[in-house]
Amino acid sequence: MKINFKNNFIASVIISYLLFVQISLHGQQKNQTSYSNNLAKNAMSVSTESKIEALIKTLTLKEKVALCHAQSKFSTKGVERLGIPEIWMSDGPHGVRAEINWDNWKYAGWTNDSITAFPALTCLAASFNPELSSQYGFSLGEEARYRKKDVLLGPGVNIYRTPLNGRNFEYMGEDPFLASTLVVPYIKGVQKNGVAACVKHYVLNNQEHWRSKINVEVGDRALYEIYLPAFKASVKEAGVWAIMGAYNKFRGKYTTHNPILHKILKSDWKYDGVVISDWSSAHSTEESALYGLDLEMGTGTDGLGTSTNDFYSQYYLAAPFLKGLKNGDFPESLVDDKVRRILRLMFRTNMSANRPLGNANTKAHHDVARRVATDGIVLLKNEKNFFPIKDDKNVTIAVIGENATRSMTAGGGSSELKAKFEISPLEGIKARYKNATITHAMGYQTGPSRYNQVIPPTLDLDSLKTEAIKTARNADIVLFIGGLNKSHLQDCEGDDRLQFGLPFGQVDLLNDIYKVNKNIGFILVTGNAVEMPWLDKVNALVETWYLGSMSGHAIADVISGDVNPSGKLPFSFPVKLEDNAAHFFGTSSYPGENMTQYYKEDILVGYRWHDTKKIKPLYAFGYGLSYTSFTISDIKTDKKTYTTEDSITVSCRLNNTGLLDGSEVVQVYVGKQKSKVKRALKELKGFQKVSVNSGKQYSVDINIPVKSLSFYDEAISDWNLEKGDYIVYVGNASNNISKKTKITIN
Ligand code: GLC
Repeated sequence: MKINFKNNFIASVIISYLLFVQISLHGQQKNQTSYSNNLAKNAMSVSTESKIEALIKTLTLKEKVALCHAQSKFSTKGVERLGIPEIWMSDGPHGVRAEINWDNWKYAGWTNDSITAFPALTCLAASFNPELSSQYGFSLGEEARYRKKDVLLGPGVNIYRTPLNGRNFEYMGEDPFLASTLVVPYIKGVQKNGVAACVKHYVLNNQEHWRSKINVEVGDRALYEIYLPAFKASVKEAGVWAIMGAYNKFRGKYTTHNPILHKILKSDWKYDGVVISDWSSAHSTEESALYGLDLEMGTGTDGLGTSTNDFYSQYYLAAPFLKGLKNGDFPESLVDDKVRRILRLMFRTNMSANRPLGNANTKAHHDVARRVATDGIVLLKNEKNFFPIKDDKNVTIAVIGENATRSMTAGGGSSELKAKFEISPLEGIKARYKNATITHAMGYQTGPSRYNQVIPPTLDLDSLKTEAIKTARNADIVLFIGGLNKSHLQDCEGDDRLQFGLPFGQVDLLNDIYKVNKNIGFILVTGNAVEMPWLDKVNALVETWYLGSMSGHAIADVISGDVNPSGKLPFSFPVKLEDNAAHFFGTSSYPGENMTQYYKEDILVGYRWHDTKKIKPLYAFGYGLSYTSFTISDIKTDKKTYTTEDSITVSCRLNNTGLLDGSEVVQVYVGKQKSKVKRALKELKGFQKVSVNSGKQYSVDINIPVKSLSFYDEAISDWNLEKGDYIVYVGNASNNISKKTKITIN
């Protein structure tokens, strides 16, 4: 038998390295320590990249191909011969999903996989708080590590284009700068645990309706200026270790293995991580091989529905790929590049010698979940000093609505969670208000959350309504806790909402309650904007998002005044659906015709549309009230004229002119005057959330690189910084600008 010394030498280096990993992990006796230290010195001097190259030389073609696709619903094969471990993945963006069976979509029924449910990402976006995002990512990463997951399938950063999209609650709103600024600390936080974040869904997955077939047509400008930035920040600033392709097509080819998106990601951005498919988003061996798919998951299933047993050997990147490599259709360098990335993911996660061990369901995590929740809740209306509500023994508070008690961590699709606990709004209110009398009526009922099917309610709706009206009549204060929920055709993966208004007869119920009690505060539990023809019937309105395990405590913190609300809307609330850009252009724009849709609004998404077309929104991007009041004064820029390499320093003084301590988000938008191309009136280019005590003031400096004012010039397929005059807008909402300042770029 011919001995191949080269390979054996390499194999011995690897074995000794893996032995080092083994030893250092298990912490052997004293004498072993000196041994492993010496080995450690040797092993650490051999860089990860050279270990990867050595491994690639040692792997057989069959082993290489086996690394590129699933072996089960949420895991991929390792290489037992060399001690290379499996990779284990789990959803989702706001918590680690319960264990799922090896080969089907049912839950495994474990008793040790309950976790902390963190607030949905719209709430994190609404906090405008990068420091909190870092704590969020780190805590979530600890729980993923504790559950022995090497890849966490989140965060989601698809841009909010239509208020009907079933998955907007999982994402970070309509503005690419806000999403980019908040996704970076989240990813870094997760990855500090030796767990890969997997930013998703790359790209243009902005609706759930027809998600697995729809072909998106959009120009380069909108692609680069609106839909790619959060992914680019994930790669270039956060160093994300995994990215998930999307279901939809872009310009006729599936996004998961798309030549244009592959070039942008791996050539232009020099992404060195792994591209993982969405579950069943791969559709071709050749395109997967050539256009950048590294790890194929979920093929043969419809994503979350039926599954096909032992389909794994038939995956596009399984037997057909191996065959293509063997008969020369594909050069071996193609599979080597995929394996290189997968091994790099392993050395960063399950082959890293010094990963922390993680933990779950700790007070620290509950505190983070509560802080993100209270920091993201948005106070939209507060008349007659409705909020905060005192805990007064002479007062009766009627809590009405199904969302006062309905679980919002169950349902919603792949982001659903088995929370160790979930404090409902009613529980939180009862826990906080010890003196006031709290009464409750469900008022309306919807069916349980089921994926891809609507289950009808079981109770008699008329008696629910009668009961609610009676409860309201006999109360001093009515808290109507309604909105949407995580069931099919609501805020749920797999499809979109069919209506912009509130479902389940809530509006009729509210109107009937109004007839017997006009002192109503609406607590809106949604992940999306809704139509509000009833707004004049409520004295107050709070958008509370889906807040996870600590929902009830966080809501009680804010409505009682224990916490002064400081959240700002991460997306616009149009008055009516047609005021939204995606719906302005009819069905060819949303949901599409003949399986193709045209993003005709181009770059004018969200407030960019409302500002530029002068269509006043009901509530604007960046808007949110406080129990105290702020003014922004002494607004100035450090210079009047800048060059390309400069950074603009916008400074101002934030004054808390009210009676309560609180936080405010100073927002800086910039617009180009007399541009040679179509541009939005103004775009968010900087923000800072600041806590200021009552009567105090705080000086704020926000730096904006001049280059960030460039537009993507389709004529040169590159970014282009226009010279000339720009307007700098400073305020605390996109529709509440304190001052405009002109600057010039030379
Ligand atoms: C789903 C989702 C994706 C999720 C994956 C695994 O279809 O689109 O976000 O991570 O499948 O559940």
